[in-house]
Amino acid sequence: MKAGIIGYGKMGREIERILLERGHSAPLVFDVNNLHELIPENLKKCDVVIEFTTPDAAVKNYLACFEVGVPVVSGTTGWLHHRDLVMEKCREKGGTFFHATNFSIGVNLFFELNRKLAEIMSGHPGYSLSMKEVHHTQKLDAPSGTAITLAEDLITMIPEKLSWRNDLNTRSEEIGILSERIENVPGIHTINWESEVDTIQITHISKSRKGMALGAVMAAEYCLEHKGILTMKEMLNI
Ligand SMILES: NC(=O)c1ccc[n+]([C@@H]2O[C@H](COP(=O)([O-])OP(=O)(O)OC[C@H]3O[C@@H](n4cnc5c(N)ncnc54)[C@H](O)[C@@H]3O)[C@@H](O)[C@H]2O)c1
Repeated sequence: MKAGIIGYGKMGREIERILLERGHSAPLVFDVNNLHELIPENLKKCDVVIEFTTPDAAVKNYLACFEVGVPVVSGTTGWLHHRDLVMEKCREKGGTFFHATNFSIGVNLFFELNRKLAEIMSGHPGYSLSMKEVHHTQKLDAPSGTAITLAEDLITMIPEKLSWRNDLNTRSEEIGILSERIENVPGIHTINWESEVDTIQITHISKSRKGMALGAVMAAEYCLEHKGILTMKEMLNI
């Protein structure tokens, strides 16, 4: 597989390493210093593009890939307020788009655990729900995309919860999310169910970026065999 990489930062570099380790090539790497090379002729040379940039840059890059019909693995977070536009353009162009707020296999199992625990807890109104996420200080968005996915899943599972807020000071229909930024933390997410007498917590701790980068490369491989709007749930058969 010939993969193009858009965004040669912490994730882009780790993804390149894993692509080569799995016998793929990454002949085209785009970042802010060579944006003039990010043109249709070059995008067309890729079997798939893996995009980990910034919330401001991501949408434009996805639309450029749809225009030339190259499948996109989207890892950037913080752009989901444009989700409808991106999905519509993807469908219109018959494109392939695989986004995950977190490509780590473990996190996607954790998403499932979160839904299962929510199902159990929804019968126990004595517990109040909150969430905490911790990431490195260079992270641009808060709460993390992963925390938003966890919160959106909780909202679908618990009828009393209608929205989330990036603050622990919430109304009863909101899920409070506390975001902390600490040097060198790849990502920690904790779901907290607390009653007057005890606390039930589940936590996922990323030890490095490797798990997320590996999942993104597996998603790129999946894009060669599948078309349309693809998800981790589908790829992992959860
Ligand atoms: N989905 C996941 O599993 C996952 C995992 C980790 C990080 N992320 C997200 O991925 C994104 C990147 O994370 P990172 O840790 O690699 O960040 P980073 O800051 O280390 O790298 C981002 C890179 O994108 C480049 N860039 C900025 N604008 C660009 C543009 N218009 N075109 C091309 N390149 C551009 C920057 O110069 C930088 O090199 C963030 O949104 C982060 O939240 C997602």
